[in-house]
Amino acid sequence: MKMNLHFWSVTLILVMLPAAVLAAPTEPPVNDPSITPKAPTLPLATDGTALLESFGGREGLVRIMDDVMVRWLANPKTRPFFEGADQASIKKHLVEQFCVVMNGPCTYTGRTMAESHKGMAVSEGAFYALVEELQISLNKAKVPFFAQNRLIAALAPMHRDIIDK
Ligand code: HEM
Repeated sequence: MKMNLHFWSVTLILVMLPAAVLAAPTEPPVNDPSITPKAPTLPLATDGTALLESFGGREGLVRIMDDVMVRWLANPKTRPFFEGADQASIKKHLVEQFCVVMNGPCTYTGRTMAESHKGMAVSEGAFYALVEELQISLNKAKVPFFAQNRLIAALAPMHRDIIDK
């Protein structure tokens, strides 16, 4: 009887395992290896919209992006990237992206981080300068420190798709 039970559990595992592997969802194929994502563009948050409220909701994010874009245009490390770009569109997509990252009632309509930063030669220095200016704007908007950390932690893995080594 003991042997029989063992036999059936082993058989069940052998039958179910390949079925589970075959049923696993597969990523859509990407033909261009230079835009294959290495990190999710929209990581998932799990605690309702409390985090978004710490940023003043969607309107708060709009004010923060208006403020930070002025800083990115003033900072010599980030200015070259943004001065010729469609700043209104970037701000709109950043609001959507941050809102979705924080579980807000928004839809991200922009491209992936790999696609939108491809060929831009963003350096590590430019990346940190951008994040520092963002932190200044977040402090000015009185976003609590814990909430800032949660956002930065969600954005940090994206550097793999943004910085050109
Ligand atoms: C965690 C850091 C970053 C995030 C979350 C981020 C996010 C975004 C988003 C959402 C867009 C809009 C994509 C679209 O319109 O389809 C964008 C575009 C852009 N980003 Fe970033 N970005 C980051 C870092 C950087 C850095 C470090 C630079 C340069 C210093 C940069 C320069 C740009 C530029 C110039 C565009 C416009 C590209 C175009 O219009 O083709 N970004 N970024």
